[in-house]
Amino acid sequence: MHVITIAARKGGVGKTTLSMHLSVLASAPGSPALLLDTDPQRSLAWWHQLRQADVPNLIEADARELPELIEAARREGIRRVIIDTPPHAEDSILDAMRVADLVVVPTRPGPLDLAAVATTLALADRVGKVPLAVINHAPPRTGSGEPSIVAEARAALIGMGARVAETVVANRVSMSHAILTGSTVNEHEPGGKAASEVEALWREIEALLSAPVRKSR
Ligand SMILES: Nc1ncnc2c1ncn2[C@@H]1O[C@H](COP(=O)(O)OP(=O)(O)OP(=O)(O)O)[C@@H](O)[C@H]1O
Ligand SMILES: [Mg+2]
Repeated sequence: MHVITIAARKGGVGKTTLSMHLSVLASAPGSPALLLDTDPQRSLAWWHQLRQADVPNLIEADARELPELIEAARREGIRRVIIDTPPHAEDSILDAMRVADLVVVPTRPGPLDLAAVATTLALADRVGKVPLAVINHAPPRTGSGEPSIVAEARAALIGMGARVAETVVANRVSMSHAILTGSTVNEHEPGGKAASEVEALWREIEALLSAPVRKSR
């Protein structure tokens, strides 16, 4: 079993959006992923209620219950658990990071967003985890190179000691359209650019999970 916690001290960076997408991609026929919503905003619930598909499973939980819930999921043979977290509740974020095999930290590429990533990295460090930063809400790629704001964000994140996903998730209206219909971009617009980015991100995460990096303490 692998547990992925999506965390960022900054609001609106895409924690819930990535949780939705990764939890669907992490589900296989007969093997639904489990989505654990530890954010009292409960943004995942209405999306989950709108869904036609019967994956992923969703449990709304207090972060203190995570070890118990994950143990129960393990006994049931669940292979993938994705945890969405609130932006401001430090103790909850720490609890969710502690149980993770991989902590994913979404960020927008702007300078103020990047400054806020440092506080999330510091939390991960406290529980001995080296997170994977994911640049989300990026301007779409034009031509061959990465937009300069993305290249600069990548360099800044590496400078802070973060691992940074190769895959960048662009700001695309199809993301909102998909969510509004209780789906993901992969279900709503398969073969689209947004879908291929999210799929590439999931492949990258799967590869990391097969060789997780943890700090020894
Ligand atoms: N790549 C994207 N392209 C377009 N819209 C996006 C993208 N990622 C997220 N959004 C939109 O941005 C808004 C904020 O995203 P989301 O709710 O996932 O952030 P969050 O980090 O979970 O926020 P909070 O801290 O409040 O829980 C949502 O309306 C979502 O649909
Ligand atoms: Mg959220």
